[in-house]
Amino acid sequence: MKECVIVDGVRSPNGRAHAQKGWFRNKRPDELLTAVYEELFARNQQVRPEDVEAVFVGTANQTGMTNDIARLAWLAGGFPESVAANGICQQCPSGMAAIEHAARAIMCGEGDIYIAAGAEDMLHVQMGQGLDFPPRLTKRYRPEEIPMGPTAEKVAEHWNISRQDMETMAYYSHKNAAAARDAGKFKREIVPIEGELEDGTKFMVEHDQWIREDISLESMATMMSPFKPGGVITAALSSPLTQGACALLLMSRETADRLGCEYHLKYKGGVMTGCDPTVMGVGPIYAVQKLLQRTGLSIDEIDVVEINEAFASQSLACLRELGLEENAPFKKTNLWGGALALGHPLGESGARVVITLNNIMKTERPDARYGLATLCGGFGNANASLWERVR
Ligand SMILES: CC(C)(COP(=O)(O)OP(=O)(O)OC[C@H]1O[C@@H](n2cnc3c(N)ncnc32)[C@H](O)[C@@H]1OP(=O)(O)O)[C@@H](O)C(=O)NCCC(=O)NCCS
Repeated sequence: MKECVIVDGVRSPNGRAHAQKGWFRNKRPDELLTAVYEELFARNQQVRPEDVEAVFVGTANQTGMTNDIARLAWLAGGFPESVAANGICQQCPSGMAAIEHAARAIMCGEGDIYIAAGAEDMLHVQMGQGLDFPPRLTKRYRPEEIPMGPTAEKVAEHWNISRQDMETMAYYSHKNAAAARDAGKFKREIVPIEGELEDGTKFMVEHDQWIREDISLESMATMMSPFKPGGVITAALSSPLTQGACALLLMSRETADRLGCEYHLKYKGGVMTGCDPTVMGVGPIYAVQKLLQRTGLSIDEIDVVEINEAFASQSLACLRELGLEENAPFKKTNLWGGALALGHPLGESGARVVITLNNIMKTERPDARYGLATLCGGFGNANASLWERVR
């Protein structure tokens, strides 16, 4: 089998999906996605868009502006009609599924150059918009336990995760994200895109909107759960509603060498698995266990971890069960912050965590051999992918 390497990864800044305050409230998701493609090709001029075998785009809610965004954004951006684009829906892991589809296609020799992307706009396309649950599903599970917030409450209760530990985690997520931003660490991955302030002033957005400068344990402690009376999952312990897009350029190693592209990670393997949707957040436990079993590695051999912080409760439950981390500040996980601070544009995040992992392993942990990226997904899907240093 061929080897699949990451040549590059680019993302939009994550904007808050807020009708008055969101910096990208007047941008469409296809515009964010095409801005990312343009940057990817501008940075990698040895690759022409027509050389791409196919484009995979993960999006959780494929309706309205994100209905077949894979093909429509590609065409709207002026890219060649001859390149196919395939939209992938697997809820939050959609972006990682896009990477996994491309990696497998490269490894089995179907093509040599792919784009794997993710895009979501939780302002213009609301979470669950147009969703019509199968009646038989609501007989199998209690309907009030299926939405995301209640699953996070249930995980906190069943995995015994204290509110204090979650707030400490949220605190460090924001602090680490702000420190990484201020040190310019996201410059390799974020393409500046024009947005606007609340008063309508236009400006170039260069970083993620949700990172809170004023994060404090005291203020978080006073917040109430919107999901359950007396619950513990507050807005501070939930990833925010977000707009964002990202894309990776993946190639067979021989093609990357032939074109003179730089790379340092190859795809070692990936799994998708499922769990009880009413505790969907713990899916990464099973995904990572399966991945380790398949690749013959132990958890101690993993040097760097990116786990999507959909909610503080589920991330902490996963990290503890897997034996990765007990409490924040983390030693090898989400070193540049996570979705609690950076945002979580559903189907985009599974690809975003791989972009960030790639950059952390290039710049901050050049000694690391194995990197793991994982995330949970609505209704109980979870994915994990493993990346190995080759240079
Ligand atoms: C939790 C949730 C309902 C909150 O939504 P919301 O009520 O619209 O709230 P916002 O996110 O706009 O935040 C509201 C306020 O909370 C407060 N707040 C949020 N985080 C805070 C923090 N860390 N510290 C202090 N205050 C905070 C702020 O006052 C904020 O308003 P402001 O920034 O405009 O001043 C929403 O973010 C949500 O549903 N998140 C989960 C999304 C999801 O399910 N994703 C899929 C995961 S699988």
